[in-house]
Amino acid sequence: MAKVIAVTNQKGGVGKTSTTEGLGVCLKTKGYRVLCIDLDPQANLSFSVDAETEEFPTIYDVIKGTTKTLHAVQRTPSFDIIASNILLSGVELEFTQKDREFILKKAIEPALRRYDYILIDTPPALSILTVNAFTAADAIIIPMLADIFSLQGVAELHETIRRVKHRYNPELKIQGILLNKYNSRSILTREVMATAELVAEQLNTKIFSKKIRQGCVISEAQANQASFLEYAPSSNVVKDYMKFAEEVLKEDENSGEQEVV
Ligand SMILES: Nc1ncnc2c1ncn2[C@@H]1O[C@H](COP(=O)(O)OP(=O)(O)OP(=O)(O)O)[C@@H](O)[C@H]1O
Ligand SMILES: [Mg+2]
Repeated sequence: MAKVIAVTNQKGGVGKTSTTEGLGVCLKTKGYRVLCIDLDPQANLSFSVDAETEEFPTIYDVIKGTTKTLHAVQRTPSFDIIASNILLSGVELEFTQKDREFILKKAIEPALRRYDYILIDTPPALSILTVNAFTAADAIIIPMLADIFSLQGVAELHETIRRVKHRYNPELKIQGILLNKYNSRSILTREVMATAELVAEQLNTKIFSKKIRQGCVISEAQANQASFLEYAPSSNVVKDYMKFAEEVLKEDENSGEQEVV
């Protein structure tokens, strides 16, 4: 059965999409079966891996019930993906029925046995889409910029996670905070680490020991719609995501959630 991980933070531009992509590519390279779901109407992840968002069914069609889940899966050199489409931005108004928090959870059921990991890239908002991702997930990973503004919005994020856990998904856990664009040589690092520790404490979670360094290859690879691994296999960012993937795998093995392949 797949482990479902939602990559989330309602702050924009912190590395949710890059982390979904980086973790997804690294897990796939290590031999795991990976499906990524682009749940952001901006469709950045879909663009990055050159997935079709207009002429092929997307997650919008799946949650609307007009396409079967597995019929919306596209194969890419990076990983399998269910792409997004701008229509997804209307979900808030379109889906008003009871149990609307469970739409994604039900939708991904047919994929659970086919994959080892299902990674969900969420939009920068605490919307019904994000709540659906939290309801469907086993775990949450929170990318966070290593800066002093990162505390902003943490209380709201915590409240949303607590509410989902309480009402819809008691097993949900916050696996950890991933520091992104980390610069160990910055003179701000000590303050930043203190902030990050504070956030982790508030969320009752930990900071992953592996951090992602700043590296322009991420945006270059995304702009070229190429996988990080192929674009710059020996870059620091790729090394960092590979080590981060190993940390996640190790934790999952220890907790018996994922068998080694
Ligand atoms: N470690 C890094 N080093 C350098 N640039 C990075 C790094 N991580 C992400 N970026 C760049 O920062 C920008 C924001 O990253 P990304 O799109 O992954 O964030 P996001 O949280 O998904 O944003 P949004 O909230 O808009 O969905 C992108 O241009 C990306 O290429
Ligand atoms: Mg994004």
